[in-house]
Amino acid sequence: MDYDTKWSGKFLPKHTRSVCSNSVGEMTKTNVCVVGIGRIGLALALLLAKAGHRVFGVEINPQTLRKLRGVKETGKNFTPENMMLHRFLDKRLFLTEDLHVGISRSEAVFIAIGTGISSDGKPELSTLFNLVEDICSKPGDVSGRLFVLKSTLPVGTTREIVSVMEQRTGMQCGKDFFVAFCPERVLGDKALSEMASLPKIIGGYDKKSSRKAAKIYRTIGGKIIVAQSPEMAELIKLVDNAYRQTRFAFANDLALLAEHFKLNAYELVKMANDSYSRNDIPFPSGGVSGYCLTKDPLYLERGFSDVAIKRGFPSVWFSARKANDYMPVHMIDLLKQALSRVGKGLEGSNILICGIAYKENTEDIRSSHGLEIASRLRGEGAKVFLWDPCVHEKNLQFPMVNNPEEALTAMDALVLTVKHREFIKMSEDPKIIQMIRNMRTPIVVDGWGVFQKLSGKKGILYMGIGFPNE
Ligand SMILES: NC(=O)c1ccc[n+]([C@@H]2O[C@H](COP(=O)([O-])OP(=O)(O)OC[C@H]3O[C@@H](n4cnc5c(N)ncnc54)[C@H](O)[C@@H]3O)[C@@H](O)[C@H]2O)c1
Repeated sequence: MDYDTKWSGKFLPKHTRSVCSNSVGEMTKTNVCVVGIGRIGLALALLLAKAGHRVFGVEINPQTLRKLRGVKETGKNFTPENMMLHRFLDKRLFLTEDLHVGISRSEAVFIAIGTGISSDGKPELSTLFNLVEDICSKPGDVSGRLFVLKSTLPVGTTREIVSVMEQRTGMQCGKDFFVAFCPERVLGDKALSEMASLPKIIGGYDKKSSRKAAKIYRTIGGKIIVAQSPEMAELIKLVDNAYRQTRFAFANDLALLAEHFKLNAYELVKMANDSYSRNDIPFPSGGVSGYCLTKDPLYLERGFSDVAIKRGFPSVWFSARKANDYMPVHMIDLLKQALSRVGKGLEGSNILICGIAYKENTEDIRSSHGLEIASRLRGEGAKVFLWDPCVHEKNLQFPMVNNPEEALTAMDALVLTVKHREFIKMSEDPKIIQMIRNMRTPIVVDGWGVFQKLSGKKGILYMGIGFPNE
């Protein structure tokens, strides 16, 4: 058999080299390319492979490629993703760092690279636009193909991308090539299971693009919802996360109000929701962070700034983002109050941050409020230590604690930022409670109400978000 050695380290049988046929619409099992094999791209590539497509995964980060190939070779960590990698890598899923090798063999190209926010809170899309330029540098790679944008985008971006592609290639979208925006709505840590079942929003540039995208999506599962335009699909995606974080901000502002009136916000929420189906208020927390919840509401602002200027106040979701951004600051404020009650300040105090993942039971630390609290505390002179049983990242610029039981005795405060299962267990363990009592100063600042039972316990100073904090 003849092999193509461009697939670094791995061989690709020649029969997988397909020439684009201009007819994605007629095929159900085809060759597809996924650009960006991160959290979303990997799950998508695996599901497409499982559906019977031949998938070419393009990834520029050599470390990520090494890690993915390592799974195949060592068979370690049997997560659902790794088990599927084992099954499909080099059989129906082929990895490469070469964009044009991946695209030229495929009839549909899914783009799942990261999109970000600049330091002044504006959408940062240069990586995506550079990628589009790169794709268009070979017009033959554009011709006849369907491009599906999966990365979260500000409203109007799909049309801007089409315009760039048309200008660079002289071709026409809807006739010579096809583009659809099909947002990803899964939770990062449940990507594989949710992607197979959640509804798929299809926002084609034109009807033909929508039809072609729907045809491939149907093969991986979930209801197909065709939006009238790419803008509608872009907006639906942003609404999801803007709505969620607005609800969280409502709960967090309630928590501040409860603290003011010396009430318990967790009890307040429980009672307000109890047997009253019109209320569905979430519990408050010491931070609402993560890659998507911090970025998406700011993307939504792009179309709203004229209204905000005209009426003199910002959107609800923008204010909600600000309200959520305030919670880590408030956590630090509670910590300072607690330390001052025992005659201490942040300077020179040992603080253990429990939880640096952005939410419970995940290893994802992107835009984490726990890390933000850690940096702010260090900036004010505290000695900060981190403990997170879910996170295995080694290159954090803070000392990591492996054995919290040993570490606690040297600490002046424990600050809990997420409600990992492990922390809930810990809050019920009499041995740990005793260790807290034995801390250098037994202060607990709780962002999730996990340690509420410690309130009023002799020898422990408990301060919590949404708590009376007498
Ligand atoms: N993670 C989530 O929970 C989630 C959920 C819904 C939507 N999204 C959106 O999906 C998109 C991807 O998110 P993610 O979490 O998978 O990001 P990620 O950072 O985990 O993955 C992106 C991958 O793309 C690679 N990449 C970047 N530029 C590339 C290029 N030019 N060529 C090839 N590879 C390239 C990166 O190396 C990285 O591995 C983002 O826009 C995000 O907002 C993410």
